[in-house]
Amino acid sequence: MDKLKEANIDKNSSTGSVSGAIAPASQKKVLIVDDESVIRWSLKKFFDEEGFATTTASSGIKALKIIEEEDPEIVILDVHLPDHNGLALLKTIKETKPDITVIMVTGHADVRSSVEAMKMGALDYLEKPFDFDNLRKILSSFSIKAESSGGKKLSQKDDFIFSSEKMKEVLRIMERLATKSDVTVLVLGESGTGKNMLCKKLHELSPRNEMPFVEVGCVNIPDHLIESELFGHEKGSFTDAKNAKKGLIEMADGGTVFLDEIGDMPYQMQPKILSLIEEKKFRRIGGLKYIHADVRICTATNRNLQELVEAKKFRLDLFYRLNVATIEIPPLRERREDIHLLVNYFLGHYSDKYQCVTKSISPKAMNFLEEYAWPGNVRELKNLIEKTVLFAKGEAIDIIDIPQGAVTQKYDDEFTVSALKEKMDIEAPPGMSLKAMEEAFIKTALKLSEGNQRKAARLLEISRDTLRYRLKKLGIVSKEIED
Ligand SMILES: Nc1ncnc2c1ncn2[C@@H]1O[C@H](COP(=O)(O)OP(=O)(O)OP(=O)(O)O)[C@@H](O)[C@H]1O
Ligand SMILES: [Mg+2]
Repeated sequence: MDKLKEANIDKNSSTGSVSGAIAPASQKKVLIVDDESVIRWSLKKFFDEEGFATTTASSGIKALKIIEEEDPEIVILDVHLPDHNGLALLKTIKETKPDITVIMVTGHADVRSSVEAMKMGALDYLEKPFDFDNLRKILSSFSIKAESSGGKKLSQKDDFIFSSEKMKEVLRIMERLATKSDVTVLVLGESGTGKNMLCKKLHELSPRNEMPFVEVGCVNIPDHLIESELFGHEKGSFTDAKNAKKGLIEMADGGTVFLDEIGDMPYQMQPKILSLIEEKKFRRIGGLKYIHADVRICTATNRNLQELVEAKKFRLDLFYRLNVATIEIPPLRERREDIHLLVNYFLGHYSDKYQCVTKSISPKAMNFLEEYAWPGNVRELKNLIEKTVLFAKGEAIDIIDIPQGAVTQKYDDEFTVSALKEKMDIEAPPGMSLKAMEEAFIKTALKLSEGNQRKAARLLEISRDTLRYRLKKLGIVSKEIED
């Protein structure tokens, strides 16, 4: 306690004490916000020794005042404060000073609010009691990050291609969760969004990366075999069990087990998965002794687990257990900025693979791809570009080279029509007659829909018959192009 006196920290936390020093310009400023004086003291000691200029605050109000006045680079923020919800304070900080790096302090097993905090922009979280080596690692990885820019680091490795803010956020959360090598992760997203890819990346970036990554497709293994595949069996435990066999969990010892399509896990197996996650132990079929499972469980599904719970196909307790460290990959149509990059990347990739001149793509064709709804997400885009590269005749890919079959029907969805509608903004010069105006509208709609009258009619919000009538009335010649 003498040390507490030396550090001149007010032990009466509810009054909201502040302690600090004026920092030389070169020193990074850290603000520690926690209502427990011992925590403030131990963190201050750590940061001081690491060469930071440290200030402490015991309440949210005091913290906001210091942030305003002193502009710290880093804030260490307790989730539970007497006068503030730490997450609400985090939100305020991120809204007002987004450049501040915030590291949350949470109680053990408070993973849910920690993940929530990371989604809200916190860099990481520290669990009480502190592991200062871990804190040192977080800080050093942060300084590496400060030099590199978000997703670039990953895309340079020729794997995850993205530029959208949404994907940067997804990858940032994945990178942080990767370091928490015991946290069970659930990855959600439509088919083809990159869930498998993300889980593999999570393993590669985790401290378990030297150990096995074992993938189990829960839909591919027949119900009656899944238990023996996962947990193994003892000799003689059933008719065909001539020898004892290790299951996949045992084979993954020290590494990561990826339970893909967890939504399809047979109902009767689900309690065993829950107990594996919670107790980190399991028994082989026919075995009496428990085996410790030193594995991280990573799961993914494109199904709606909540709906499966309501339909009594997925257990509520397992759902709650899994729905903690959740990463949701948005569909491609909600991050259209990525399309351009992905198209160019796969064009290069397949041009190399099939040893043809690297294909370029016309702006019109690119536009077409950027506006398409991509129900099959990145997988569909990748396959389409592969086909296009294989079949395109010239060096430059135009809209005509894109295998239309699958795309055109879907292209004509509501989204595309509404996207085109935005382009229907025609300026009417003063004195323009109503007839001329009507003609301009119709011609623009036909141009945008590339002569397809059905689409043009939808753009104009008139029936196809009315369009035909007007074309005739105005004397516009337009060849009927079918869908
Ligand atoms: N951001 C990306 N950058 C590059 N390739 C990607 C990206 N996202 C997905 N892919 C590629 O798209 C394909 C589908 O990805 P993946 O298998 O990971 O999807 P998924 O979400 O697991 O799909 P499903 O639900 O059908 O299992 C893979 O070939 C993958 O390499
Ligand atoms: Mg998958």
